[in-house]
Amino acid sequence: MPQEKVIVIDFGGQYNQLVARRVRECNVLCEIYSWRKPLDEIFAMEPKGIILTGGPNSVYAEGAASCERRLFEAGIPVLGLCYGAQLMMQVLGGKVERAENREYGKTELHVDKTSPLFYEVKENTICWMSHFDYISEIAEGFRSTAQTQSCPYAALEDEAHKLYGFQFHPEVLHTPEGSKMLRNFVYRVCGCSGDWRMDSFAARQIEAIREKVGDGRVLCALSGGVDSSVAAVLLSRAIGKQLTCVFVDHGLLRKNEGDEVEAVFGPDGPYELNFIRVNAAERYYEKLAGVEEPEKKRRIIGEEFIRIFEEEARKLGTVDYLVQGTIYPDVVESGLGGESAVIKSHHNVGGLPEHVDFKEIIEPLRDLFKDEVRAVGLNLGIPKNLVFRQPFPGPGLGIRIIGEVTAEKVRIVQDADAIYREEVDKALSLYEEEHGGEEAPWKPNQFFAALSNMRSVGVMGDERTYDYAVVLRAVRTIDFMTAESANIPWDILQTITTRIVNEVRGVNRVLYDLTGKPPGTIEME
Ligand code: XMP
Repeated sequence: MPQEKVIVIDFGGQYNQLVARRVRECNVLCEIYSWRKPLDEIFAMEPKGIILTGGPNSVYAEGAASCERRLFEAGIPVLGLCYGAQLMMQVLGGKVERAENREYGKTELHVDKTSPLFYEVKENTICWMSHFDYISEIAEGFRSTAQTQSCPYAALEDEAHKLYGFQFHPEVLHTPEGSKMLRNFVYRVCGCSGDWRMDSFAARQIEAIREKVGDGRVLCALSGGVDSSVAAVLLSRAIGKQLTCVFVDHGLLRKNEGDEVEAVFGPDGPYELNFIRVNAAERYYEKLAGVEEPEKKRRIIGEEFIRIFEEEARKLGTVDYLVQGTIYPDVVESGLGGESAVIKSHHNVGGLPEHVDFKEIIEPLRDLFKDEVRAVGLNLGIPKNLVFRQPFPGPGLGIRIIGEVTAEKVRIVQDADAIYREEVDKALSLYEEEHGGEEAPWKPNQFFAALSNMRSVGVMGDERTYDYAVVLRAVRTIDFMTAESANIPWDILQTITTRIVNEVRGVNRVLYDLTGKPPGTIEME
């Protein structure tokens, strides 16, 4: 029996990989392809179902992403989401028009319970809308199966032909019953049995890596973060000592982090890796002097990484492959994930120079979200404290210092961040102790101090000061694609503020950032 799979056709929306991930959560293999992929190749993969994603354009715009009518006539169940639903209507004879106002945000949805997609979904539920265009007429054979106040065709279906459409986004967490709806599509409409498991990911990757690498030599960029650590352990399981890990201390790490990474992956740690630490702080500060633009900083940091790897590789002799712990959000937000718009170029993807001295780059985690990477990490037996470490961006404090990076600013942000982490960790442990092991409801998934480029007047010990403002950021997020600011209790923030202004030279003000993502991003640059 071939592995059952659902195919997601990508029309360029920001949430497309989330759709695939929701399908994987149903234990069904899911692959994403661009809408440009020839339909016959899609059919040849014999998908059990096809999902058409959202996208940034209008279906009637010139040159808009499109699809052939045959897609809807092959007898394969199709679910269109937002743009995908509009496209289905346009191709099949319905009508899509520009609304006067954009509908955006959480919206009440009334569903028709007789639709298989709304099995066990509440009759009145919430959905996440984000669209300009709307379906004003449905194609023949379709009926409306859900409505919102302003949207008569929030969901529609032609059950006889197994064609379904949602104007809203079931894949995001803002549609609380969205996963259930997708699950209904995958199981009740496509008839999948759910026999695919995430645990097999590590085993399959190890096999694939062995086959690809043969007896070649591999160099791994190890940052000590979750992603590159999982990638390194995966590679070491696959090819053992053919792997050399290079850890670049770029002087933009959190306080003491370089030594902590060396303690785990170095010769005294539990892994049998070839480990090389390169201390390159001075080199980085020189390159970054006078540079303020965030994308430029990312490019410089990324390029210097590659230069250092090349140097280390040359010292080692022949190196055939370079491994990176790129994960899916890095790919999509760098604009390489298919059709989505570029938000930031993460150093390990978009900033890669074209000429590198390696045959190929291996990115074993490229299709996974953070929590899926963690699941793989646990599956590989990596210690929990490492697996659940909070994420840290490749360009490090370089993008947590707004504007020019200097050694002095690095020192300030490191010290402030160390105090912040110490106090938050203390408060979290205390909460758990007092609540029988229960996690604090405000526990952030990522939190850090950043240095604003703002200096302001203050007074300390009767003296005028003119110092920097530190920004504290803390977010709650599951997938890092959307996030909301964490409600760290006021008294804890006050303790942190007092400690930072008292203990960190050069800081006279502390601000707390309440912005969500969107409209912000998690990092401030
Ligand atoms: P944003 O700021 O894009 O962050 O909302 C989402 C997640 O990605 C991390 N991040 C980066 N990681 N290189 C990285 O390797 C980068 O340039 C970068 N920028 C953001 C961020 O810490 C968060 O976990």
